[in-house]
Amino acid sequence: MVNNHHQIIPLAVVALMATMTCSAQSYPTRLLEHEQQIEEIMKDMTLDEKIAMLHGKNMFSSAGIPRLGIADMEYADGPFGIREEMEPHSWNPLHLETDYATFFPTGSALAATWSTEWAYNYGRGMSREARLRGKDMILGPAMNIQRVPTGGRTYEYLSEDPLLSGALAVAYTRGSQDDGTAVCLKHYALNNQEDYRGFVDVHISDRAMYEIYLRPFEMAVREADAWALMAAYNKVRGRWCSENELLLNTILRKQWGFPGMVISDWGGVHSTVDAVTAGMNVEMPGNRFMGQALLDSVKAGKVSEEVINQRVREILRVRLTVEPIAKEIANSKPVGNPEEMAIALEVARRSIVLLKNEECSAKKGQDGEKLLPIDFKRVKRILVVGENAVTKMALGGVGAGVKTRQEITPLEGLQKALDGKINITYVQGYKSFDRSSRGKRQSPQQPADAQLLEEAVKAAKNADLVLFFAGDNREVETEGSDRKSITLPSGQDELAQALAKANKRLVTVIVAGGPVDVSTVSEVSAALLVSWFNGSMGGQAIAEVLTGDVSPSGKLPMTWPKKLEDVPAYATGSFPQQVNNDNQGDIFVGLTRNQSNDRRQQLVANYAEESLVGYRWYDAKKVAVAYPFGYGLSYAQFQYSGISVKPTVEGFDVNFTLANTSGVDAEEVVQVYVSRPLSHIERPEKELKAFKRVVLKGGESQKVTVPVRRTDLCHWDEAAQTWMLEPGTITLKVGGSSDNLPLSAEVVI
Ligand code: BGC
Repeated sequence: MVNNHHQIIPLAVVALMATMTCSAQSYPTRLLEHEQQIEEIMKDMTLDEKIAMLHGKNMFSSAGIPRLGIADMEYADGPFGIREEMEPHSWNPLHLETDYATFFPTGSALAATWSTEWAYNYGRGMSREARLRGKDMILGPAMNIQRVPTGGRTYEYLSEDPLLSGALAVAYTRGSQDDGTAVCLKHYALNNQEDYRGFVDVHISDRAMYEIYLRPFEMAVREADAWALMAAYNKVRGRWCSENELLLNTILRKQWGFPGMVISDWGGVHSTVDAVTAGMNVEMPGNRFMGQALLDSVKAGKVSEEVINQRVREILRVRLTVEPIAKEIANSKPVGNPEEMAIALEVARRSIVLLKNEECSAKKGQDGEKLLPIDFKRVKRILVVGENAVTKMALGGVGAGVKTRQEITPLEGLQKALDGKINITYVQGYKSFDRSSRGKRQSPQQPADAQLLEEAVKAAKNADLVLFFAGDNREVETEGSDRKSITLPSGQDELAQALAKANKRLVTVIVAGGPVDVSTVSEVSAALLVSWFNGSMGGQAIAEVLTGDVSPSGKLPMTWPKKLEDVPAYATGSFPQQVNNDNQGDIFVGLTRNQSNDRRQQLVANYAEESLVGYRWYDAKKVAVAYPFGYGLSYAQFQYSGISVKPTVEGFDVNFTLANTSGVDAEEVVQVYVSRPLSHIERPEKELKAFKRVVLKGGESQKVTVPVRRTDLCHWDEAAQTWMLEPGTITLKVGGSSDNLPLSAEVVI
């Protein structure tokens, strides 16, 4: 059991800290190592050659300068795997035999590991595959804050919390770029919904913008030297991100000192002069605005050559830092190798979140028993129910997926682990939502299929244990549109109830990239887990967790609310928005049909909840949630004790003892939150300020040190327009979930 005894230990820490700067320490940039050479190259370039670099050449490349031996820039789509090759000017795949790749767990799964170490390895693994495939830049990490759980790309994004998002993006970026491939942080910025992403205009306060939504990008730029960013489709304060002077020139380039390049989202440029002067380097994938129109604008004196030179210089910095891959070498060697598959497996193992594992007694008079890990003394016949046990999640829906040679499904994972020893039966249980089966099932919300339900119930009666694989799929959660509901699709709640009636020994595994309403499955299942869209090795990982080879250690990177009305953006009425004339389609769909991407429609998303995103809101409004941010159980038990704080150059160290009081080897994610009840400014009740993943053998006890950085304690001061560290007393709370923080200490700044 977690020790709930609250120890408050007041400690005085250097008063000097408040006078010290808030700016994050910058990471040395490699982009400025070729300035001399770049100037030489530019002297030799014609204006036409310069303009040719400022827009797409093919769907996923932009031009170099062949005459001067400067290679094209090759972009690798997808933050969770290198996308297959396309025809030069369409979305049609080339169907090569050599463009397979590893399907890495998607963003929310990576985030559930809370592991900067594994995020680094993930970035490195992505880069190694990018190199084999001849790519210079990965279009990832995707790292927008998960403002609404229904956001179509929640599965790609990391977290509702800026520190967790930022720390993982920093690690991913370093991993990729240390290995030689540029990242492209996306989507900059405030692309927090998919519906109407092509024209929605985000209105937001400075403080919420800097502290919540821009902070992860700032961290990846300053602390990991990210070499590129992708401007988002939407508008911010009336201006499209691709021509947004505030976001690009002022914040990114001036305030953060970014020397690299900005590319547009596909079809996201809407102007020539405004885009190039605001700081946009490459229009992708075509040349509608930054081709001939740009050349004409320069000739007409509307854009100075100095601006063009600066945009070219920024691209060349990246081009000369990333070693080009010769075209004949690209896609010539196998991709999806054991090293990368091993990374995918290690991430998947750490991402699985155990939400519930309660005692369940099948018969009267019998002792209660936890269903997990599976007790094979008792369990000989397992029934696996649900299409998600056999559905591959590497592809599907709109947007980037991964063509992979291997994706172990949960059923395959279980069969392999229990081969011959245990009798495993599979029944479909429900019909998954499939957008492509035209006309038939337009909404994921359908009643249960009576026949499949009956078959499942019958089979459940004869099983010692029922494993129900519920959740969404890549058609339900997709780029380009938001979910309209978090209710489990395909009548899964009804099915879960029927299964539970037939067999109390019911374990539900949610396969989804974002939160779903688990009220019913949580009530009727003795155990409940989340296993995400978990990559090529996801099925093996979930089998290892169910059988007890691995103790679950994932923690929710976002709150799982009870109902949508509780979600801040819904509660304040700013999402979903009502659009009168909704016939414009998604911007991306327009692009594929070669339609104009003009979006004259006005639509404002007013971020009325300000900084109170995710747990910050539920805390402030005292709204009960289904499962809180940072939550996740283990097969082990941990005890926290003996907190102390010691000043350091960067801030202070929080020291305490963490004991694994069980016999099970396990990992625990320790979390440090900060509260400032006496602050002079409005603040959330608590905010995540540091975390660490700790490995503990059964019975082991460790002294743990978690550094808290001064820069993470600063707030954005709207009057002074800068980061400030407020002096005074802060309370630290430490534990294994945002709702279970047994240790506290006070620190005076
Ligand atoms: C997405 C980007 C993606 C690009 C290229 C856009 O629709 O928003 O994330 O990288 O397409 O596929």
